[in-house]
Amino acid sequence: MKTTNTVSYKELIGFIWQFMRPQKWVFFLIFGVAFVWAIEALLWPYVLRLVVDVFADYEGNRLAAWGALKGPIIGGIALVVGVEVGFRGMGFLQARAFPKLEADIRMAMFEHVQRHSPKYFNERFAGSLANKLSDMVTQVGAIIQALLWPLIPAIATCILGTVFLWFINPFFAWVMMVWIVVHLGVCILFARTCDVYEHEHGEARSTLSGKIVDSFTNNFVVNLFYRFKEERRYVDPFQKEEEATSRRAKVYVEKLRCFLSLIYFLGIIVGTNGAMLYLWVHGRITTGEVVQVFNTGWSLTMLLWNVGTTLPTLFQSFGIAKQAYSVMKDPEDIQDKVGAKPLTVSSGEIIFENVSFYYGEKHLFHNKHVHIRGGEKVGLVGYTGAGKSTFINLILRFFPLNAGKITIDGQEISNVTLESVRRQIALIPQDPILFHRTLRENIHYGNPEASEEEVMRSAKLAHCDEFIRNIPGGYDAKVGERGTKLSGGEKQRVAIARAILAGSPILILDEATSALDSVTERYIQDSLERLMENRTTLVIAHRLSTLSRMDRILVFEQGKIVEEGKHTELLARGGLYSRMWKMQVGGFLPEASV
Ligand SMILES: Nc1ncnc2c1ncn2[C@@H]1O[C@H](COP(=O)(O)OP(=O)(O)OP(=O)(O)O)[C@@H](O)[C@H]1O
Ligand SMILES: [Mg+2]
Repeated sequence: MKTTNTVSYKELIGFIWQFMRPQKWVFFLIFGVAFVWAIEALLWPYVLRLVVDVFADYEGNRLAAWGALKGPIIGGIALVVGVEVGFRGMGFLQARAFPKLEADIRMAMFEHVQRHSPKYFNERFAGSLANKLSDMVTQVGAIIQALLWPLIPAIATCILGTVFLWFINPFFAWVMMVWIVVHLGVCILFARTCDVYEHEHGEARSTLSGKIVDSFTNNFVVNLFYRFKEERRYVDPFQKEEEATSRRAKVYVEKLRCFLSLIYFLGIIVGTNGAMLYLWVHGRITTGEVVQVFNTGWSLTMLLWNVGTTLPTLFQSFGIAKQAYSVMKDPEDIQDKVGAKPLTVSSGEIIFENVSFYYGEKHLFHNKHVHIRGGEKVGLVGYTGAGKSTFINLILRFFPLNAGKITIDGQEISNVTLESVRRQIALIPQDPILFHRTLRENIHYGNPEASEEEVMRSAKLAHCDEFIRNIPGGYDAKVGERGTKLSGGEKQRVAIARAILAGSPILILDEATSALDSVTERYIQDSLERLMENRTTLVIAHRLSTLSRMDRILVFEQGKIVEEGKHTELLARGGLYSRMWKMQVGGFLPEASV
């Protein structure tokens, strides 16, 4: 699994901010209300101080205290009401802002990841990628929540609280300041390491989900070979790694908390409370002031204690979010050039000029020249692994070339927009995969603008209609993940209907009818031949008889085109094609290579 561990805080915050910006006023308000905590934490001890001082002053004549108590009581009630209104307002603002923020982030990431080529997905686990999307959404929420409570209120309370204490006795302010600096300093110093540990944990968790999803996806094979125990054993080391990294991160946080407890004990319990008792005994502060110092100290320590708990979690969240953000740094592997124009197809002429293509170290095509005329019907044959599917994948621009160029009607495909290339070419793939959506939606995918009648017409041409009408739910039946509820031949027919509906000027069939019985195949062959009229068509087939009506057949062998010509010419030549033809038993190619 590839990861990019170079995401900076600035980049991540920039990324999050871009989604907060459309609702920036709502977020400003939410953050503004967070200061209510600070007000409550400091004003409440002040109200108590006033009340206690009144109690002390009127100890001998309590009934006369009402007049003096009125102010603090009204102030106290106003404080409680103000704070409650503030918090409820914040709740509603959050309910408005967060769902949209989360949805926008998820959709942006979904779109970015989805735009990668099949090669990108081949090298990664879909489960892992999906996990990163949900990690990002969850952690962005956690980061903002941590700022709202306790970080912003704590900072505000620390500043204001120290000022309040200064007016009672500067000594308390000094103790508080030293404690705040030491406490926060330690938190920040240690918490950055939490980020690293949590990054490792996030990576281990993503890999683990990838393995679990891969195992679920292959559940049929697991069942087939009855390998439940083996799958558990396979996933186990990944689970152990996740467990170990999780433990490491958590133990580290606990060690940090132990250290903070010690500083708290020395600074607050011993320092402030000791000094407070000393000053009261010597009559240098009033009883009310003792109550205010004690309560302010208490509020501050509670808030800072929460900061101590939250900072590591915040850095953990940053760690996970940065790790999730790494997918946004994977560039789209095949991008349009700046100012690329759409491909316009007139005749559908395809030319390979000096094309070289390698899969990593494996050299498949070297200086390949191929000329397919507009409207020509070309068959591609060759033993398995000869490079036929790769040849068409290059026309579809699934992979960048190592050298040379491919043009369609004179336009180099790497210079035009990818969207237009894919729109102009309809491919019926070797192993069609369907969405777990309804049959109608799967066919409609070929052309979302098509009408219901056009969908039906395509389904009839591909001979889907008859089997679809026989399954419960008909066109509204869902086909199972990747189309598992359909037989191979049914899936192929849906893929054919989808391609018919697309109506693209260039048509490619990669073993499009291999899963069909010969009767159904003959029916569909008629439809396909009608579809091929006036279209450039490439047909890959192991069943050579299906190629007899092609204008030309290209014979592939280990990436090279070793023969080309019409079916009858190639048979007469007595080369590889005629050998394959003779070896064919019942119309299929033997698997072995020459
Ligand atoms: N994504 C890939 N990465 C690396 N090698 C690949 C990849 N796809 C295909 N290959 C290799 O390239 C060669 C050509 O594969 P390709 O799929 O083009 O063969 P093919 O002629 O279509 O075979 P088949 O008739 O079995 O479909 C094979 O040896 C295959 O192993
Ligand atoms: Mg193939």
